[in-house]
This record gives sequence, C-alpha cells and structure tokens, in this order.
Amino acid sequence: MRCRIVGAPVQDGAGRMGCEMGPSALRTAGLVAMLKELGHEVEDLGQVQRGDVRPLVHGNAALKALPEINAWTVAIAQAAYEASQDAMPIFLGGDHSISAGTLSGVARRAAEAKRPLFVLWLDAHPDFHTLETTASGNLHGVPLAYASGRPGFAGYFPDLPVAVEPSHICTLGLRSIDPAERHALNETGVTVHDMRAIDEHGIAPLLRAFIERVASAGGMLHVSLDVDFLEPSIAPAVGTTVPGGATFREAHLTMEMLYDSGLVTSLDLVELNPFLDERGRTATLMVDLTASLMGRRIMDRPTRSYSGS
Ligand code: ARG
Ligand code: MN
Ligand code: MN
Ligand code: MN
Repeated sequence: MRCRIVGAPVQDGAGRMGCEMGPSALRTAGLVAMLKELGHEVEDLGQVQRGDVRPLVHGNAALKALPEINAWTVAIAQAAYEASQDAMPIFLGGDHSISAGTLSGVARRAAEAKRPLFVLWLDAHPDFHTLETTASGNLHGVPLAYASGRPGFAGYFPDLPVAVEPSHICTLGLRSIDPAERHALNETGVTVHDMRAIDEHGIAPLLRAFIERVASAGGMLHVSLDVDFLEPSIAPAVGTTVPGGATFREAHLTMEMLYDSGLVTSLDLVELNPFLDERGRTATLMVDLTASLMGRRIMDRPTRSYSGS
C-alpha cells in the first residue's frame, strides 16, 4: 500500500502545550521504517503549514485559540484532500482538533469517489461539543461535531465541503462525556460503545458489527486514534488521561481486526504529548499499534521492555 505521512503539529486545541512535538516523536519512534519493513511504499510529506490567522470573535468567551484552529483547519483540510489521492494518508497530530481538517479533507475525497465515508473514533471522549456547548473552550473537544455537520460552526470554522453522516460514525472506548455531548450523541444517532459496553461484550463483537456495516456499504473507513483511548498506565503521554482505558491487548486486537477488514483508508494518530512521556514508551506504543493496523502480526511483533531500558 502507498502511505503518505502528514505532520500536523497543532497544540492550541489542547489545554496544555506539547502536542506540537507529536509528529517528531512518532517519527523518532520509527514510524516510517516500520511501514517500509511491512512492505508499504511511504512518502513523508513533512509538516502542514498553518495559514494566516484572522481575528474571530465568538459569544462563548471560554473558547481558546479560535482564530488559530480555524487557520489550521483550512490548511489541514487541503493537505488531507491532496494526500488522500491514490494513497492512505496517516496524519500525525497534534491535538485532536486536527481531525476537523483531516475529516473534512477525506470526506471530500470520499464524496468525489462516490463512496460513503465511515469513521471509527477511538477515544475516551466523543469530542462532540459545538462552539456553544464547550465549557473548557479547548477546541480538541469539537472536531467530531464539526465534521458531522452540527450547527454553529459557520463563520468560525471553514465551511465543510461534505459532512460525515452521524449514522456512519462509531465511537469506541468512551468514558468521559459531558452532558451536552451526551444529548447531541443521542439526538444524532452516532454509535456509542462506551467502556461499559466493552467490559460487558468484549471489544471484538462491537467492532466486528461496525466493520460489517462499512463493508456492506462499500465504504471508506477513517480511523481516529486518540492516545487517551488507551489505559493511562500503558500510555501516559497525553494531557487528558482518564482511568480505565483500552488495554494493550484490546488495542492491538482492534488494530489487527481493522487490518484484516482491508477497509481502512486514512488514519489519525493524535494527542501524543511527548513532554509527558516516559522514555518514549507512548510514542513507541502508538507506532506499534499502527504496525498492527498496517499488517504486522503477533508472531512478528518485537518484544519490548520498558523497565529501565
Ligand atoms: N470534553 C472535554 C472538553 O471539552 C474533554 C475533551 C478532550 N478531548 C480530547 N481530544 N482529548 O474539554
Ligand atoms: Mn479526542
Ligand atoms: Mn480524548
Ligand atoms: Mn452499544
């Protein structure tokens, strides 16, 4: 497969600095060499450059860095559209606000290909706030609402070429949902598999049902992997840890099932904050999970040891 690596060094959407270093850490952890070892053709397009910032004033005084995220979204959407031509783009965040742009760009690509776009959102959070409902004002909390066409973004975020159909979105791993997000998720019909559902049923049947829906629709599948999907004890390098996340085994199984499906057409690796990491273990885990998504099998997995290594 041909892969294009796109760095999106955005940190203004998160509550603390550091995600700007995410693309460097993922490259340092060996992302490109790993993909080549698995037999993929890799083109590293470098870093997206943010466009010009224009002043934007919104009634929600809590909003942080709205002009900056607007400008990033313009640039990332264009980069995502271009990188997804005849290749699988892998977007290196950056905080999760980058997905406003990546989803916009790949949705435009899917619409041109006349194929439905599906989204698998692997995250502790749904990131389903609008500009009105976010209380933290951190714009990494809004990208899924924006990309699915929720109201209130016009004039503040770039116009969406096409919205992702909410019924084509599956969130997996949720365990921190604000009341306004819960209401909006119920109203729109986004599929929500929270941690309780994973505990009760196991991750495999939940994921399998979604994969079957994508396959029978002939869909393209965008996977958005937030570091905080993972249990914080194995993935500490994220500003928004929530206890009780996906285990090492659940996360690899998810990636392996996605590889087997043959449906994944684009990927976000987001929220890695290398300033919070321990000897690169989270960056390394994100690269290993990407390897499972791209065809590495358990028999080929390297044995990693982090204790004092
Ligand atoms: N819902 C919370 C907020 O709006 C947390 C969002 C966390 N999002 C993320 N991409 N880590 O602030
Ligand atoms: Mn997120
Ligand atoms: Mn999250
Ligand atoms: Mn469910």
